[in-house]
Amino acid sequence: MDPVQWTGSIDPEVPSAARMYDFFLGGMHNFEADREAARRVIEAMPDAPMIARVNRSFLRRAVRFLVARGIRQFLDVGSGVPTVGNVHEVAQGLDRDARVVYVDIDPVAVTHAAQILAGNDRATAVVADLREPAELLNLLDHPQRRAVLDLSRPVGLLLVSMLHFVPGEPAHRAVTGLKDALAPGSYLVISHPVSEGVDAQTAGRVQGVYQRTATPGALRTRAEVERFFDGFALVPPGLVWTPQWQPDDDVAEADLGAADPRRVGMLAGVGRKPDEGMA
Ligand SMILES: C[S@@+](CC[C@H](N)C(=O)[O-])C[C@H]1O[C@@H](n2cnc3c(N)ncnc32)[C@H](O)[C@@H]1O
Repeated sequence: MDPVQWTGSIDPEVPSAARMYDFFLGGMHNFEADREAARRVIEAMPDAPMIARVNRSFLRRAVRFLVARGIRQFLDVGSGVPTVGNVHEVAQGLDRDARVVYVDIDPVAVTHAAQILAGNDRATAVVADLREPAELLNLLDHPQRRAVLDLSRPVGLLLVSMLHFVPGEPAHRAVTGLKDALAPGSYLVISHPVSEGVDAQTAGRVQGVYQRTATPGALRTRAEVERFFDGFALVPPGLVWTPQWQPDDDVAEADLGAADPRRVGMLAGVGRKPDEGMA
């Protein structure tokens, strides 16, 4: 329903985090430079494809949890190249009236999302940068997107495996800006790779590969990830290793992560914005 809000160009020689992640998940929307970079990550960290699958499994569980809590609108920032079990498929599978806005900095991811969403008037995709939250909120204020997402009502804000691509304080400022724009009763969903338990050599090699992408990343500590939830109440079981977040049968596919959750190296949590007067 929505024109893709992007007029730039793609350099297929520069690997992209979105398309490398697509490669980890067995997708087809990647170029040779992405595949080469992804293979170098796998060389340094053979668990990378497993970690991607475990993360997708968490995303699906979190969306189902939010729908069960009455959330019918989702803002998925850093949504990536669409893959099996997209947010709109999970949410609209439970309630066909559920609404989703996908946001990503990667035009290939958004173009593909827009193609998949053609004819779906309850979901749309836009190119935007989390580091510019005011611009992102402005984009959401467009009449076509206001028809999909009503920010005066509770929203599920998904920042799943993406905040490490926004190192340092800008990420905290951006998340605060978005949290402030959400109605009470909204939820924040985060998964984030952390430095805990990662050996410095592996971290350095992986970081070296991402350094050459358009969005070089950085790991955070557990405390730094927890800080993103400031002002929100973490729902049980709190901030935990991703496979431990309300596991269900879906986790079966992520066998390795379930066997040793720390091996995933990624924390996950869901927080709720308190009702008015409760903060
Ligand atoms: C590892 S993928 C995660 C995709 C999806 N959220 C998931 O968990 O399956 C990270 C995504 O974040 C996007 N990204 C990185 N920096 C971003 C930024 N500043 N603003 C918006 N998206 C960004 C990348 O393009 C990529 O698609």
